[in-house]
Amino acid sequence: MSKKLNVAVVGATGAVGREMLKTLEKRSFPVNNLRLLASSRSAGTTLPCFGTKHTVEELTTESFKGIDVALFSAGASISRQFADAAVKAGTVVIDNSSAFRMVPEVPLVVPEVNPEDAFKHKGLIANPNCTTIIMLVALKPLYDLSRIRRIVVSTYQSASGAGAKGMQELEQQTADVVAGKPAVPKVFSFPYAFNLFSHNSAITGNGYCEEEMKMVNETRKIMHDNDISVCPTCVRVPVLRSHAEAIVIEQERRVSVEEALEALAKAPGVKIVNDAATNHFPMPCESNEQYDVLVGRVRYDLSCDTGLAIFVCGDQLLKGAALNAVQIAELLANR
Ligand SMILES: NC(=O)c1ccc[n+]([C@@H]2O[C@H](COP(=O)([O-])OP(=O)(O)OC[C@H]3O[C@@H](n4cnc5c(N)ncnc54)[C@H](OP(=O)(O)O)[C@@H]3O)[C@@H](O)[C@H]2O)c1
Repeated sequence: MSKKLNVAVVGATGAVGREMLKTLEKRSFPVNNLRLLASSRSAGTTLPCFGTKHTVEELTTESFKGIDVALFSAGASISRQFADAAVKAGTVVIDNSSAFRMVPEVPLVVPEVNPEDAFKHKGLIANPNCTTIIMLVALKPLYDLSRIRRIVVSTYQSASGAGAKGMQELEQQTADVVAGKPAVPKVFSFPYAFNLFSHNSAITGNGYCEEEMKMVNETRKIMHDNDISVCPTCVRVPVLRSHAEAIVIEQERRVSVEEALEALAKAPGVKIVNDAATNHFPMPCESNEQYDVLVGRVRYDLSCDTGLAIFVCGDQLLKGAALNAVQIAELLANR
């Protein structure tokens, strides 16, 4: 059995933080002391975990004394402000934000894809972007059959990707529209209920938004392949939880649909949902609160001799964030 660790969750009251607490408990992570940290706004409130109520404390640079592992999920600016103090206190930080993902010496880890990278850390390990994690869990077994040269991906991203406030906005607007009232945008710039829009992150100089560029750059880093071409289109859809992605890949050799399905069936973290007879394929309502990424619609790309097309769906609060972070902590705890 692994040694019990002192664990801190930074951003414990947020959409991801709450999932981290549930995941630590559900997977019986070997926790000795658990410290919940957030802003002064929620200091003093309590959250349940491991059968007891834990009081949320205000995050300060002194919060990490005696902490072995800290799961950070309070946004990039908080990570930039506090990760260094945690590392200096001897804590291993597993960071969910984008703050350190592309720093060369910081491992960017999906345990089903590149677990060995986790052990190269110097106090800090980054959890990748949620859409990238979900895509790569499904693509790794196909890459192992034949290198993937090119990925064209369209995402259908849920409201919870924007945190607790994103979910509240979709719920409020949906209730308002059904009641005959207008949808009033507050968190997002545009009406969300009964609508969809291009991902709300800023458009960069090349016309791709930041979310899309994360998929490009993080895929290359995680796969250790700087030559993979990735062309993403990220879209926010009015779904509360779980991201879906339509992915088309071009490989070096023609991989048959049967071969791909066989590899996917054996792959860790993947569940095949591929029933053509009933049109039953991956859906958010079936991936919600699940650890596995659902994969289906596995078919040939009719426009390319060495291409395959798939459709995937994954709970981005879990596999795209909390679960992936806890799995990284498990890699360290089990060593
Ligand atoms: N949502 C997703 O699907 C997802 C997926 C992957 C990665 N992430 C990343 O995970 C992070 C959190 O996302 P989320 O969706 O959970 O956001 P969220 O629901 O808005 O939660 C934000 C958390 O950060 C805390 N926080 C805010 N300001 C703080 C401060 N000054 N000091 C300490 N804590 C502070 C909040 O505490 P209070 O309650 O005190 O305000 C809350 O616990 C972000 O970096 C995000 O990019 C999110």
